Amino acid sequence: MQLTLISNREEFMEKDNIIEVKDLHVDIKMMEGTLTPVRGVNFEIKRGETLGLVGESGCGKSITCKSILAINDKKCTPHGEIMFRNEDDTEVDILKMDPKGKEIRNIRGKQISMIFQEPMVAFSPMYTIGNQITEATLLHITKDKKKAKEISLDVMRKVGIANVEKRYNQYPHEFSGGMLQRALIAMALVCNPKLLIADEPTTALDVTIQAQILELMKELQKEFNMAILFITHDLGVVARMCDRVAVMYLGKVVETGDSKTIYANPQHPYTRGLMGSVHKIGGRKDERLFSIEGTVPLAMNLPKQCGFYERCDCRIEGLCDKAEPELVETEPGHKIACFACNNPACQAHRAEVEKRLKEEESKPVETNEGGKKRGKR
Ligand SMILES: Nc1ncnc2c1ncn2[C@@H]1O[C@H](COP(=O)(O)OP(=O)(O)O)[C@@H](O)[C@H]1O
Ligand code: SF4
Ligand SMILES: [Mg+2]
Repeated sequence: MQLTLISNREEFMEKDNIIEVKDLHVDIKMMEGTLTPVRGVNFEIKRGETLGLVGESGCGKSITCKSILAINDKKCTPHGEIMFRNEDDTEVDILKMDPKGKEIRNIRGKQISMIFQEPMVAFSPMYTIGNQITEATLLHITKDKKKAKEISLDVMRKVGIANVEKRYNQYPHEFSGGMLQRALIAMALVCNPKLLIADEPTTALDVTIQAQILELMKELQKEFNMAILFITHDLGVVARMCDRVAVMYLGKVVETGDSKTIYANPQHPYTRGLMGSVHKIGGRKDERLFSIEGTVPLAMNLPKQCGFYERCDCRIEGLCDKAEPELVETEPGHKIACFACNNPACQAHRAEVEKRLKEEESKPVETNEGGKKRGKR
């Protein structure tokens, strides 16, 4: 078996971090060309912490979290590093593992589990709910069938499923949407994972059930001291659930920081647009909701410019259409990728890029006749 332990780099990960995603790219080979839905994503999550990954549909959130579990489609090729703190406190790179190998199977479902948006798809209609929860218990915790059932019943009680003995033997179609989502959470928690990935876990539920499920997740997180990667397009949910937030647009994180700061003072034009599309707590009920015009472009043959350029009210012509801003730290823990944000770090980055562009433009370029001329390349 190929060893993926980074043994000679003991201090590779920050001590408290459970996962560090570094410069993650995902390419998808298509008939028309290569799609790059993830274009250099970086984030980390500490033990017991909740990170919200936010952005409109099509930003690359699901592909990012599927990469963490190595469950992407075959045609997806991830690059970069996904460092994970393993059971014995060693650091392993998930991207170096065989997606079907023993190493990832020891992590998937046991140390990292995932709740999907659509519980009806996650459960097989052919087996009882109890059977499916116990399968994970038998695989990772105990081979004793009686004990495994007890553990499963216990976790079903914990997620608020009443009358568990009867429910254990029922099939998915006999559960309501909210109850099925609870069962899915039970299945994800049964092995006491260190990291739970929740991909839009409440989007399919009505508002009251959604609130109950979110409350339940918070309680269980405290009890299990789990880290959570919470994927959502809803910033209202972020304010309620997350310690920190990473805002994603066109396969990149464009702003990240603690959720109170981001919520109170969003800086990136895209974050401000997303904020405008939710009611602020204490805001007026008749307040009009703002929406960002246009849609997320297809991540194929992208021009060398800011990904948000076409939709941005603040764009700087001659700059934002010529270069893509990098994520820079504007205050401890707060990072923004935008040339127009009015803070010293973003302005210093802007000056640097403008200087580089000027230098590039004044470089002589070869003409067809073999001569040289100055100007745009
Ligand atoms: N298996 C796939 N094949 C082709 N395109 C895909 C595949 N999975 C995702 N995509 C495309 O990649 C982009 C990002 O997808 P996804 O990560 O699902 O976005 P999000 O979860 O943010 O809505 C979308 O444009 C989507 O159509
Ligand atoms: S870099 Fe320019 S186009 Fe991109 S978000 Fe900032 S102002 Fe808008
Ligand atoms: Mg998704």
